[in-house]
Amino acid sequence: MRRKLIAGNWKMNGMTADGLKLAETLAQRAQQAADYGDPPPPACDLLVCPPFTLLWPVRDAIVGSGIALGGQDCHTAPSGAHTGDVSAPMLADIGCSFVVLGHSERRQNHGEDDATVRAKAEAALAGGLTPIVCVGETEAERDAGQTLAVIARQVEGSLPVEALSAADAGLVLAYEPVWAIGTGRTATPAQVQEVHAALRGQLAELLGPARAEATQLLYGGSVKPDNAPDLLALADVDGALVGGASLKADDFWAIAGAC
Ligand code: G3P
Repeated sequence: MRRKLIAGNWKMNGMTADGLKLAETLAQRAQQAADYGDPPPPACDLLVCPPFTLLWPVRDAIVGSGIALGGQDCHTAPSGAHTGDVSAPMLADIGCSFVVLGHSERRQNHGEDDATVRAKAEAALAGGLTPIVCVGETEAERDAGQTLAVIARQVEGSLPVEALSAADAGLVLAYEPVWAIGTGRTATPAQVQEVHAALRGQLAELLGPARAEATQLLYGGSVKPDNAPDLLALADVDGALVGGASLKADDFWAIAGAC
């Protein structure tokens, strides 16, 4: 049985005071839920991925709460002359256990291709992090009936299959249709399940059936408290990668409560 994961991708949002308040609120709720069962503890794991500038204060705010910390990107190298970049060992050192990689905003705005994403995922695994590798089609690709082919190509190119097999390590795969990100247009449950079932099948071919069954598949794209129950009830949806709604403690908690 796969445990669900609700991950908040804060993107480039949050001054210190905002980020701290959000993290403290979530940590208090998690602590209260664990100690008193009120609010009830969510039946899932929680993860927050703040911008690099907030990792340190957020780490301190959530320590002991059970909420995990993640980065939003990492370099392919562990260290070196890479101005402006942050490495996987640096993220691990500050308390991260996950890193989001290959988000469509990085693919579009930073020219990251599948090979880059794969190299970053290998670096993440080597640095002791669990990569959350993102894939997703554009609206034009969906309209052209290419969704499953595009996603299969991205998975084939982005997944660090050899490193995963060698390290016996895991990764998380996130399906984020580009047209659903930040638009308020969520993919329908049928669309999501179709893609996730295809992803599970492809993982079985690449990693074997047991690891495919164990891999968490997240959906991301305008996940909100009102659509979360239907999405999280799908057979092959093991959680959500939440953008905008993860910036509001009430919404993020409500999404987690739908697990
Ligand atoms: O990584 C999360 C994401 O891209 C979805 O963002 O704002 O549509 O929930 P949002």
